[in-house]
Amino acid sequence: MRRREIFEHAAEQATRYLDEVGERPVSVPLTPELIDGWRALLGGDLPLRGTAPTWPVDALMRCAADGGVVGSTGPRYFHYVVGGAVPAAVATDWLVAAFDQFAATAAASPAVTLAEEVALDWTMDLLGLRRTGRPLSGAWVTGTTEAHFVALAAARHELYEARGWDVEARGMRGAPPVAVLAGGDAHRSLFAAAQYLGFGREEIIPVDTDDQGRMLPSALAARLAAQPDPAIVCAAGGEINTGSFDPFEPIAEITRQHGSWLHLDLAFGAAAAAAPELAHLTAGIELADSWATDGHKMLQTPYAVGLVLTAHPEAHRAAMTSQAPYTTIGATVPPGLRDGMDWSPGMARRGLGVPAWAALATLGREGIADVVTRCHDHALRLAAALSTDPAIRIANQVVYNQVLIDVRPEAHTVHNAERLVRAVLDEIVADGTCVLGGTRWRGKPMLRASIANHATTGHDIDLAAEAITRAVHRVHTKHGLVPDVVDRMEPWHAHAGVVDC
Ligand SMILES: Cc1ncc(COP(=O)(O)O)c(C=O)c1O
Repeated sequence: MRRREIFEHAAEQATRYLDEVGERPVSVPLTPELIDGWRALLGGDLPLRGTAPTWPVDALMRCAADGGVVGSTGPRYFHYVVGGAVPAAVATDWLVAAFDQFAATAAASPAVTLAEEVALDWTMDLLGLRRTGRPLSGAWVTGTTEAHFVALAAARHELYEARGWDVEARGMRGAPPVAVLAGGDAHRSLFAAAQYLGFGREEIIPVDTDDQGRMLPSALAARLAAQPDPAIVCAAGGEINTGSFDPFEPIAEITRQHGSWLHLDLAFGAAAAAAPELAHLTAGIELADSWATDGHKMLQTPYAVGLVLTAHPEAHRAAMTSQAPYTTIGATVPPGLRDGMDWSPGMARRGLGVPAWAALATLGREGIADVVTRCHDHALRLAAALSTDPAIRIANQVVYNQVLIDVRPEAHTVHNAERLVRAVLDEIVADGTCVLGGTRWRGKPMLRASIANHATTGHDIDLAAEAITRAVHRVHTKHGLVPDVVDRMEPWHAHAGVVDC
């Protein structure tokens, strides 16, 4: 079979999938029979002779046909914060695969390196980070977790160097302590990144937050005052449950006075800077020392596009470079370009920033502002529609794209409230109109809707609001909405817990 036929077949199937994703059930209840069917289809023994080259595409499409592919790129997927990849971003991601290059060195991938650098420049502009006039550096990585990792590694380098400790050479054993502080509602990914770098998860000092999860500057000042040496302070914009933003200006000032490093988790919050109506949320972000964000959230790229930026290029590079004689002697860095392997983990890497470059180019500043503003409007619309139902309470101030939905304000124990939330989520999946997430906020299990897709319309929101209300009332009818009956509902054994990512 010719290459052209294989590629055309894949493009045709992908187009069909995307054309239909908004019409199909977003998700289906996952039964053992379905999983076994997909395993039989995809698995079995390793073929002795290879299959037809179109077979893998067809097998995946057959799984998709009966629910094996959750419609997270569709307009009514509100579980994890994920945008819908715009066509140019998907197309260039394919091209990156077709080029099949070693994008860690500029000599091996000059145009890809340039596209990534252009996209870095555009993002710095979009976020207004050049306002302070400091030199900036950045790198495309796989997501915000990896971006935190790079940023905290740069911070670690900077603070240890000031104390005369070469942390890259000597490691953390015997190193003088460097404290890490984070808002009490910081995202799990920050703890993951810290632990990869040898900062114990349990050593991270929590800073008190308000009822929306925003860091309290007075609490930060008190915590920092107790630190004898400069520390790493992690603040955030776009809290995973409420969507709230920390007050960056006072936080930056307090951190600066202490000589500490300020890192911001802006995984999906960064894009607010692009929208005139929402930019007040990000006021002061330019005062930080490093930033982590994602393309696959508000910037509408496919998955695994993250971005780290710092205002300390030397520390960034010192913390990340992994050059070896065969990479430096083997190829000279072309003039005006940088090797990706000096700025991000890993040697072999694909051009992760290329889809972001394509999304930014085709959406433009106005397009991104429009996506973010519409996501905010949709969140308000969903909250307003749901609040008309007495069985539902909106538990957050909808300042951005997150809607926190409490389906049972009067549930009297966390235990039965968890079962209730799970039962409603299961009904929503069975209904197929939309998908929501579950979470826990201030100790109480709740539902959460994250609206981040450019393709979502007001009509999608209305359909989702009806489906959520329908699901809540179905659970009420099935079990009765009195606390002692909720207590007697079957425990939901199949699920280990309520997720928050
Ligand atoms: C606020 C926040 N920070 C960090 C992350 C982790 O991002 P990633 O999954 O790209 O590593 C997420 C993911 O949803 C998030 O919402």
